[in-house]
Amino acid sequence: MNLIDGKLIAQKIHTETRAAAERTKAQGVTPGLAVVLVGDDPASRAYVRSKDKMCRELGLHSVKHELAATTTQEDLIALVQQLNDDPAIHGILVQSPPPSHIDESAVIAAIDPRKDVDGFHPINVAKLTLGDPTGFVPCTPLGCQRLLVESGIEIAGAHVVVLGRSMIVGKPLALLLMNKGKGGDATVTVVHSRSKNLAEITRSADIVIAAIGRAHFVKAEHVREGAVVIDVGINRVDDPSNAKGYKLVGDVDFDNVAPKCRAITPVPGGVGPMTIAMLMANTIAACRRIHSLD
Ligand code: GUN
Repeated sequence: MNLIDGKLIAQKIHTETRAAAERTKAQGVTPGLAVVLVGDDPASRAYVRSKDKMCRELGLHSVKHELAATTTQEDLIALVQQLNDDPAIHGILVQSPPPSHIDESAVIAAIDPRKDVDGFHPINVAKLTLGDPTGFVPCTPLGCQRLLVESGIEIAGAHVVVLGRSMIVGKPLALLLMNKGKGGDATVTVVHSRSKNLAEITRSADIVIAAIGRAHFVKAEHVREGAVVIDVGINRVDDPSNAKGYKLVGDVDFDNVAPKCRAITPVPGGVGPMTIAMLMANTIAACRRIHSLD
């Protein structure tokens, strides 16, 4: 069994990003990212802070807006529009999920698609669907694809089974891996909470990608001998032995699944660091496109 080290691969990408940020600054522009959080969900707050911190470490301009849970949709959209018009900002990310009184799709639609580094705007979703490389692709799917490529795992022709159909991971990941070209050309099956014969389908996979949001959902019986397993899940489970009172576990029952795998990602230290690495890379790309630097 081979452990796929997401931290190490993310560091390699950060080195490239730092160089690209330097090059962009030498051309007269500092790439800037604005991250918006509404409410005080502790996990979302931790993600937003780590994104802000990583921007600073890589030499990007970073602005963090932490808004009260009672913020109205109107005020949130007004902030998005202000960021659309701000020449120092090239990437805008509104942390998902927002509180339930906010219509998330209306907020996403308000983001300038050229600054939509999350790749959630309908224009960018359409471009991914069409295989048009001028759009932005969501960061977690991009990170999963890059992990596979950097680990030398053949995607072309492989049967990839994606567990989960979310807008953030499952759906865009399926499109990305089935599109033509490098990192694509896979045979993709998507299964979800309503799928029949789920274990039978996942057992036929060369590559299983778990993004179903349920702790330890994928068991040994879901995976065939020699498969590659990518675990996108980040679930908090109670752990009285931990000072925080909880620990983070993936969607995969790692201890029982890992011995069967050709390669597998750990949680934490697998997909997580890659998501943020791809966000930084998307922000540089947004900046360079807006300023026609390539
Ligand atoms: N919540 C979980 N993952 C993501 C992400 O990639 N982007 C945003 N905006 N919210 C998220």
